[in-house]
Amino acid sequence: MTGIDTLLHEERVIQATETFKDNANYSDESLYIEAKTDRLGFWANRAKDLQWVKNWDQVLDWQRPNAKWFVGGQLNASTNCLDVHLETRKNKTAIIWEGELGEVKTYTYEDLHHQVCKLANTLKTQFNIQKGDRITLYMPMIPELAISVLACARIGAIHSVVFGGFSADSLQNRIQDSESKLLITADGGYRRGKIVPLKQIVDEAIAVGCPTLKSVIVVSHIGEESNTTLLKGRDFDYHTVIKESSDSCAPEPMDSEDPLFILYTSGTTGKPKGIVHTTGGYLTHAKYSTKAVFDLKEDDIYWCTADIGWITGHTYLVYGPLANGATVLMYEGTPDYPDKNRFWDIIERHKVSIFYTAPTAIRAFMKWGDDHINQHDISSLRLLGTVGEPINPEAWMWYYEVIGGSRCPVVDTWWQTETGGIMLSNLPAINPMKPGSAGLPLPGIEAKVLNPDGSDVTVGGGLLSITEPWPSMLRGVWGDPGRFNSTYWKKFDTYYAGDGATIDPDGYYMVLGRVDDVLNVAGHRIGTMEVESTLVEFPGVAEAAVVGMPDEIKGQAIVGFVILKESFEPNDQTKAELCEFVAKKIGAIARPKKIVFTPDLPKTRSGKIMRRILKNIAEGKEIGDTTTLASPEIVTLLQERF
Ligand code: WT7
Repeated sequence: MTGIDTLLHEERVIQATETFKDNANYSDESLYIEAKTDRLGFWANRAKDLQWVKNWDQVLDWQRPNAKWFVGGQLNASTNCLDVHLETRKNKTAIIWEGELGEVKTYTYEDLHHQVCKLANTLKTQFNIQKGDRITLYMPMIPELAISVLACARIGAIHSVVFGGFSADSLQNRIQDSESKLLITADGGYRRGKIVPLKQIVDEAIAVGCPTLKSVIVVSHIGEESNTTLLKGRDFDYHTVIKESSDSCAPEPMDSEDPLFILYTSGTTGKPKGIVHTTGGYLTHAKYSTKAVFDLKEDDIYWCTADIGWITGHTYLVYGPLANGATVLMYEGTPDYPDKNRFWDIIERHKVSIFYTAPTAIRAFMKWGDDHINQHDISSLRLLGTVGEPINPEAWMWYYEVIGGSRCPVVDTWWQTETGGIMLSNLPAINPMKPGSAGLPLPGIEAKVLNPDGSDVTVGGGLLSITEPWPSMLRGVWGDPGRFNSTYWKKFDTYYAGDGATIDPDGYYMVLGRVDDVLNVAGHRIGTMEVESTLVEFPGVAEAAVVGMPDEIKGQAIVGFVILKESFEPNDQTKAELCEFVAKKIGAIARPKKIVFTPDLPKTRSGKIMRRILKNIAEGKEIGDTTTLASPEIVTLLQERF
């Protein structure tokens, strides 16, 4: 089924080394065969790798679009990441944490268990947090973030992690949408040598209005320099409140379908969606996919560079690797601080063997040059992964050759916040690699490329769809069932991913990128509508349209076409102020790279903005038919100004 014969006739098909294959967790087709023969039985077998308090009665209850997996089963996610290891891995390192300033802390599975229990008890007894309550986590990449995630899971509180780069407004929106009762933050975080004043941003968010929020727990990470003040009765110091709490805490038995977390992601409207994941199915897929895709073994040092604020950090930094009893590296800062050697230095010092990062980072490393890498011994690496956006074959080859020494297989993993875990990826010892292609659906996952009318594309391009329910699929959009239906289940009978893709004669998928009004900037999803609605909040803006333009490093960058009100000057200062305004309102990841002032936008006679035309301008493509425009001459002007 892997079509190796056809592959061998093509260019640039790369096989894992014999050494890798000989030692791999999965080196034959047995998982594929098992899944093809009995898909639900296959998933039940994966679920059996978890510890359940109560067995399920039914593997899947599928009432499109609502899935229930392992119905009637009960388990706890934190138990499966911690307690299950206490017998055999008590003294094994669970987390190696390195701060941007260079300090290193390690936690054994026993340490982590104690810390999680202490916080869990604190949340229950001192803050009256109950099963089902929502807790927002707005933190830097410090161990307390992983601990907080697991402490929520232990007591059945639903965590909503908000990436520490988001603004006060974005944070406030997410706190209120989830109606969080409690927030855990830090006095600040380090990023590229600067302090990100997280607590101050929290205070700003609360000032905007967070009526449901009763308490804030603050980790002192920066210390005095952060100038943090705690408001009496509302704000509490993390290490003080957990101090007296017991380090053993009985885990809350959770129904398989009880929500584990909410994670907000951008969509095609101005409002982000709270993607809901549940416990049993999510953890089943997280544990299985980590072991299969990354070939995770007992003595690996596994490093996923994603922030826990994104889904990659949830599934492949916390839940997946810890459920497998792995040693996980967690790094607070950026790859270029204090200099561009940082990552290679970390890999060398900690002997990282599995490295999972994003194409935007790979392209940046490539640009920085091989010298930084050559100064370090990174031969501990044995497997590389990429995620978040399409990877161009050139960057893929560089990653494979320079970082992997042509020795480490590269897994290109396609998935989404909504899918909870990896959907498309080769199993590294089994399927030959084709640079730029994610490869095959994982065993247990069924995918297709579809034409817009829903018919199959056997070879060629179309829209990507996951065609059978899978355990870690999203269960809904928090508080908005209508949006769940219309976004994912209206276009096709099967799950609509919003990505364009091609499929080749070997069944390999190449994911090309979003086909909706969502951009992918440095692997982060941003809705064009979010940026547009922010731009028009700026006092001088009459109208705005946002599209993506190709960017050498970030994949895509944001371009805003802006009509100013008459009394405002279309000068560079206004441009800079606008960009700053967006960064302040949404977060730095949404800062436009380019603003083009224009007296008008390409619109139909009924007044609808024709984004297709703006996209083509931004991508430097042929403009196409402009006859339906109210004033076609605007196109030439925009091309000149771009
Ligand atoms: C979107 C999902 C999944 C974790 C990180 C992003 C794009 C993701 C790949 C890949 C091509 C990819 C898609 C997808 N994407 N991985 N390997 N090849 N594109 O999660 O923020 O939910 O974004 O990222 O466009 O829809 P996310």
